[in-house]
Amino acid sequence: MVSIKSDREIELMRHSGHINYLCHKYLESQLRPGITTKEIDELAGKFMKEHDCISSSLNYQGYPGYICISVNDEVVHGIGSNRKLKNGDIVTLDISMSYKGYHSDSAATYPVGTITKDKEDLLKYTKEALMEGLKEVKAGAKLGNVSHAIEKCAHRHKLGVVEELCGHGIGTKLHEDPDIPNFGDEGVGLTMKAGMTFAIEPMLNLGTKHVCLLDDDWTIVTEDGKPSAHFEHTVLVTETGYEILTGE
Ligand code: MF3
Ligand code: CO
Repeated sequence: MVSIKSDREIELMRHSGHINYLCHKYLESQLRPGITTKEIDELAGKFMKEHDCISSSLNYQGYPGYICISVNDEVVHGIGSNRKLKNGDIVTLDISMSYKGYHSDSAATYPVGTITKDKEDLLKYTKEALMEGLKEVKAGAKLGNVSHAIEKCAHRHKLGVVEELCGHGIGTKLHEDPDIPNFGDEGVGLTMKAGMTFAIEPMLNLGTKHVCLLDDDWTIVTEDGKPSAHFEHTVLVTETGYEILTGE
């Protein structure tokens, strides 16, 4: 079932999304070569606590971190550790939190110091794919158009589209119906309605679309070891389009 949020619920999701956005800005300002991913995770936990928010990932099916931190070829669900970020790395911070029971979910991939042109393009085009997908969000339109727009953008830039992981509905639970794949046909699927809230999240690879799971049972990496990027916003469907709840 795809839920429609009331005005009160939307207000709470806006707040959750705003704190999520501020958490991104804060963590981005702390990124530098030498910081460990565990230190970033602890800063995130502290920030959420100070803003009356609760991490949605901590203890989610046993996940051990406040946020997910994925470096270079890690696609999603990397766990904070004593690994130090290095100049030239890219790092994805995937932040999900709840405020008074309402979740927000937002990811972005950041450069550490100076990165290669290939990595720069990967970040730029993955963000572009998210924005192209968002442009299709509108009451009365088909959800398949969102998936299709993301895939089209990825293929235009010769990037691999991860198929095992999807965007999702979001609200009183982190993952609600429907699943929102980052590929597919236009004109199919759910008809969007005002008041629905979605987390839309392309994960794109510089090489193959294929991924594998590491021995920690969480971290998903690209099969060919090439870098991956991930951009995600939580959005509200409106009559005329969409409102980004995790943006500025
Ligand atoms: N933002 C991630 C997602 O949408 C959160 C995952 S929770 C975790 O799936 F426990 F898997 F980290
Ligand atoms: Co998500």
